Amino acid sequence: MGDFDPAFIQEPEHRPKPAVIEADGIPQIDLSPYITITSSPNTNPEAIHNLVDQIRDACKNWGFFQVINHGVPIDSREKIQLAAKRFFDQPTDEKRQVKRGEKNPFGYYDTEHTKNVRDWKEVFDFTVDAPAVMPVSYESDDEETVEYDNQWPQYPPELREACEEYVKEVQKLSFKLLALIALSLNLAEDRFEPFFKDHTTFVRLNHYPPCLAPDLALGVGRHKDAGALTVLAQDDVGGLEVKRKSDGEWIFVNPTPNAFIINVGDIIQVWSNDAYESVEHRVRVNFTRERFSIPFFMNPAHYTVVEPIAELTNEQNPAKYKAYNWGKFFVTRKYSNFKKLDVENIQIYHFKKSDERKIDDVVSRIENIVI
Ligand code: OGA
Ligand code: NI
Repeated sequence: MGDFDPAFIQEPEHRPKPAVIEADGIPQIDLSPYITITSSPNTNPEAIHNLVDQIRDACKNWGFFQVINHGVPIDSREKIQLAAKRFFDQPTDEKRQVKRGEKNPFGYYDTEHTKNVRDWKEVFDFTVDAPAVMPVSYESDDEETVEYDNQWPQYPPELREACEEYVKEVQKLSFKLLALIALSLNLAEDRFEPFFKDHTTFVRLNHYPPCLAPDLALGVGRHKDAGALTVLAQDDVGGLEVKRKSDGEWIFVNPTPNAFIINVGDIIQVWSNDAYESVEHRVRVNFTRERFSIPFFMNPAHYTVVEPIAELTNEQNPAKYKAYNWGKFFVTRKYSNFKKLDVENIQIYHFKKSDERKIDDVVSRIENIVI
């Protein structure tokens, strides 16, 4: 392995195990009772109740689940998958025509680092509701915002339409999931909706090429998703591993054709005051087969102040987090993921009331090193 670029090599304790553990895996949930309720109001309330119970158990015990009968047409998923493959099949120079830079966080790039180790992947990011409005800087007293547009490539010509059609469908699903999660926390079905009025949801097309050293590198290093909810489409190759809450073991998520994998992000962890934890996951790569996946990261408006939901806290269960601004958090995170930094990346545990560090300390440490 003499030629393998050391930038990709994980520390021994974070390398994938030679044998994948499949176990029983994450729960599979059939959404048909809730998907049909909108067209036929006669759906059995007991079926909905049962569904909400399954969502609650999955969110508590795993932070992850798969959904079937989710209402997203297979056709729109196949179209985006095909277009993504055609885009990534091009030479790197072509893809770099729409390269993400410090001026625009959307587009193509192949140099992302997770926890300061380079990921074995290339990606194309686009925002669902262009232009995305974000704070200009991570400095807390700077109120200026900026608009970011998507950078669509010329080739393949059908990519843009395939992406736009796909997100329309997945967005409907994401709002249904959000409503089910609200119900599972005994909140009103539409409790979370207002946070998404000017949402900053974005989608990533992931391509994991075959890797000469799949025992040393990862497609994406261990991490938690920072947003509210992730709706992931993976192909039949598989590679996603989820850290099982009961024993910390990495569990392989067996691909189920046309299912979506759902996980709770850091924002739901904070809203639920830790009732639902955002769970670590990572991607293993493969010696022979390339893999594609498409996460849809459902994120609130940039000005959203994220804090535990009032109805879910009381004297016995006080808020465990200080409020933080989503846009500032996002910009800080993007900035430090973009470059390999020798500082700890910003994480929501920095906002735990029990953590004495302040966001400004974390931000100024990043600033000192980069600028
Ligand atoms: C991610 C992620 C999983 C996958 O991009 O945040 O966790 O299976 N991807 O590609
Ligand atoms: Ni992720």
